[in-house]
Amino acid sequence: MSELETGKPVESTVSRRGFVEAGIGVLGVCYAAAFGYPMYQYLATPAEEAEMEAAVKEVTLKGADKLPKNSAMVFKFGGRPAMLIRHPDGSWSALTAVCTHLGCTVAYEPDTQHIHCACHGGTYDSRTGANISGPPPKPLKTYKVLVAQGKVVVSRV
Ligand code: FES
Repeated sequence: MSELETGKPVESTVSRRGFVEAGIGVLGVCYAAAFGYPMYQYLATPAEEAEMEAAVKEVTLKGADKLPKNSAMVFKFGGRPAMLIRHPDGSWSALTAVCTHLGCTVAYEPDTQHIHCACHGGTYDSRTGANISGPPPKPLKTYKVLVAQGKVVVSRV
């Protein structure tokens, strides 16, 4: 006759303490993954991406000369996001669009005419790429911009 058939309580092989310790262990792994993965992405730039970026010297953006004033467009420079900005006075600038904090893609804000990172509130100067406020430790990299004959050529400085 088994224990279930006798009506006696069945003892669990997992103690309450063991269950709580296992739960704390699972939470610890989740916590470490939540903070560790963004750091890994920031620190580990894939080698092929770095090589591809280094190999590209310039990018031609056809029709980009029609970009309205006080606006921006995102394009790829060597496989990484970059941003072409046409300022309210008609001048141009181009910068990498990857935040120097933890690698989020940044965006141009026409209201403030700054570049903003929505991840942690970092702000950059839209002409020089200088980090103005927030956690970004370094400025955004800038590119040279040449506008001629219906196209915009963005190249390394
Ligand atoms: Fe841009 Fe943190 S990733 S401010």
